[in-house]
Amino acid sequence: MSKEIVLTGITTTGTPHLGNYVGAIAPAIASSRDPGVSSFYFLADYHALIKCGDPARVQRSSLEIAATWLACGLDPEVCVFYRQSDIREITELTWILTCVTAKGLMNRAHAYKAAVAANEAEAGADPDRGVTMGLFCYPILMAADILMFRANKVPVGKDQLQHLEMARDIAQRFNHLYEELFVVPEAVVDESRALLSGLDGRKMSKSYDNTIPLFAPEQTLRKLIMRIKTNSQAPGEPKDPDSSTLFEIYQAFATPAEAAELRRRYQEGIAWGEMKQLLFEYLNTQLKPMRDRYEALMAAPREIEAVLRQGAEKARASSGTLLAEVRRAVGIRRLDG
Ligand code: TRP
Repeated sequence: MSKEIVLTGITTTGTPHLGNYVGAIAPAIASSRDPGVSSFYFLADYHALIKCGDPARVQRSSLEIAATWLACGLDPEVCVFYRQSDIREITELTWILTCVTAKGLMNRAHAYKAAVAANEAEAGADPDRGVTMGLFCYPILMAADILMFRANKVPVGKDQLQHLEMARDIAQRFNHLYEELFVVPEAVVDESRALLSGLDGRKMSKSYDNTIPLFAPEQTLRKLIMRIKTNSQAPGEPKDPDSSTLFEIYQAFATPAEAAELRRRYQEGIAWGEMKQLLFEYLNTQLKPMRDRYEALMAAPREIEAVLRQGAEKARASSGTLLAEVRRAVGIRRLDG
């Protein structure tokens, strides 16, 4: 039996934070080591263009994100790690899929609807103000990413579930209209991994501006941890670990035995100041080896470029074959054959 294919993309905007590490990066790297799966991880840089018009930031973020995954231990020998824009077959497939996608399906996309709703809330504004065709067709590019490699499983956050439904819909429609060339993918949402809270206690997210960057320099890491919101309980008062962001972050990195020990210290009334110091030291020890690797990689963009190019070569071995079949199926063919 052929291996199960697991694929996911990372949009190259922003800087990875602790929540990204715990919720996506660490589990993906662990899963890439499973000999029963074939993993495809890629930098979704064409998706980045939809949100970001600053060329230097798009490039910088691709570099940062690639360096982050490698520094965290992703082994490009055991998976296929590539950059979306290196796989020209993806953009070609996007067009073919665009031609089988109902406009009505795209009208229902949350991101597009939210943009229109925000415009409509403003008197006199054009409902499509600021909406590019890139935003509107975003789910089709994402479907092409997934269908191109016949992915069986796609680990995503809940916010991406609708896009997965659309990819399934598009695959089925193509399979029905032409030939059964595409695998209908399944979304995988890991409910057991609670989202990490941020500095203010809300979900850690760059849209709330409450994140702790994964590879913040040591002094910044310390400062940010000192800013994490706590309640006003005094030292010595027993505290509830389950409503404490400090505990939650610790637990996401700790072994079960370490977390149990810290629970005991909460009961004993550990002071918030002491807890913050403890969390800083604990995280810093865990992150330091990865941070050092990250900094070394950031200083060697040529190495990262070489890794991504090799990944693209591996990826294109399968995308080339599938795209040739797709083109044949829709009638884009040699005239003499
Ligand atoms: N849209 C995804 C996000 O913002 C990123 C992405 C692009 C993706 N293409 C993908 C995820 C394909 C999974 C599969 O998170």
